[in-house]
Amino acid sequence: MRTLVIIAHPDLQASRINRSWAEELQAQENVTIHSLYGIYPDGAIDVRREQQLLDSHDRIIFQYPLYWYSTPSLLKQWFDQVLELGWAYGPGGEHLSGKEIGIAISTGGPADSYQPGAYNLFTLHDYTKPIQALAYHVLASYLPPFILNDARNVTDEQLAASRKAYIEHLATAQPVALEIVQ
Ligand SMILES: Cc1cc2nc3c(=O)[nH]c(=O)nc-3n(C[C@H](O)[C@H](O)[C@H](O)COP(=O)(O)O)c2cc1C
Repeated sequence: MRTLVIIAHPDLQASRINRSWAEELQAQENVTIHSLYGIYPDGAIDVRREQQLLDSHDRIIFQYPLYWYSTPSLLKQWFDQVLELGWAYGPGGEHLSGKEIGIAISTGGPADSYQPGAYNLFTLHDYTKPIQALAYHVLASYLPPFILNDARNVTDEQLAASRKAYIEHLATAQPVALEIVQ
């Protein structure tokens, strides 16, 4: 299984969680780390290069800090430009068919804030539905998310444990059935 981890953090050097995860990933065989803001500081995404990278991997993980309940903007741009009609979906667009797609995200809000009626209002399952639907649309399967909440209050010990848990997750995660609302 060749895993591509697409990291979307606007300032990975200043990051604590995502940088630490990236460092742990670097030691892994069969994992390609692809840091979008580092590779495209001017935001000019090389679509063909990205598509070739996707073609050569079986599993794609989008790793990012939650920004305004969504992805940092370069990852949204990446979805818009790389997942083309006729390549990712639609007639002839089956390049991601059968692959696995997953997310690894950090949040500022604590886990219990992501509940109906709590101060972040909805669940992270709700906020990540566009990526679930994206996976479904391109005929990929969807992995359970890897999440670290409450970023500001994560201790060094908890961060070290999450690095290990992330690697374990990549080694063992199995696709989940996506709910389909008629
Ligand atoms: C522009 C911006 C928007 C953010 N939006 C959210 C948000 O919607 N929900 C949340 O829980 N945290 C939010 N945060 C906090 C980040 O998710 C948090 O700082 C990050 O996950 C920590 O990871 P890092 O150490 O890798 O930067 C936001 C932070 C920034 C800078």
